[in-house]
Amino acid sequence: MAGPTLIIALDFPSERETLAFLDQLKKPAYVKVGMELFYREGPAILQKIKARGHRIFLDLKLHDIPNTVKSAMRNLAFHEVDMVNLHGAGGVKMMRQALEGLEEGSRERGKRPLCIAVTQLTSTGEDMLHKELLIGASLTETVEHYARMAKEAGLDGVVCSVHEAKRIHQVCGEGFLTVTPGIRPAGQSADDQVRVASPAYAREQGCDYVVVGRPITQAEDKAAAYENILRELEGIPGKGKE
Ligand code: C5P
Repeated sequence: MAGPTLIIALDFPSERETLAFLDQLKKPAYVKVGMELFYREGPAILQKIKARGHRIFLDLKLHDIPNTVKSAMRNLAFHEVDMVNLHGAGGVKMMRQALEGLEEGSRERGKRPLCIAVTQLTSTGEDMLHKELLIGASLTETVEHYARMAKEAGLDGVVCSVHEAKRIHQVCGEGFLTVTPGIRPAGQSADDQVRVASPAYAREQGCDYVVVGRPITQAEDKAAAYENILRELEGIPGKGKE
């Protein structure tokens, strides 16, 4: 069984730190470019990363009226990234139009970036959901509902926690992609993540992609940290467990 695909979160302030990090990897990777880096460097950073052979998940979490999201997605597709995302809270129409925009903007017909929905941010707790957003359903119900909406709109999957991946596959089908952050190899600091899980557990839960940042980007030997997590995702015990 193929394990989850590893995506490295490039949470760096600028191009200099980003390229210095990428130069330490020995082979092409799948990387995530988020708002911090993209808003500083713009689309030029995407081309520099692509030129080094890496695949890109552009994590900008779009959320606006359907027409605006469609036009924005058309322009993101132009940069030929591999995956983009949006907030499921924008609704089914916004998600459908996002896909239309991606298809229109793709230079190669039928080869659009994957599009996944954020269900609920991990910073949203049960209390905030009820008291601030005035949503009466539970967090779990909301996550499942947004996943179903994303599926209905034709999206490729959702961002969710490792602990939700199995359920989402049951509800939306095995082919519906789950992209899961909050991964920490055994014995490593959780940083500010509240509920963390090991790469081996993500594999067991059938996650399709895992997003890992600091355990790789802040490691002393970054290439070794990357290889260890890759091995654990493939079902080969990591160094910490040998
Ligand atoms: O460094 P760390 O492994 O915690 O990085 C996880 C990455 O996944 C960060 O870029 C973070 O913004 C992102 N993310 C997350 N939780 C979510 C959605 C995205 O940690 N629910």
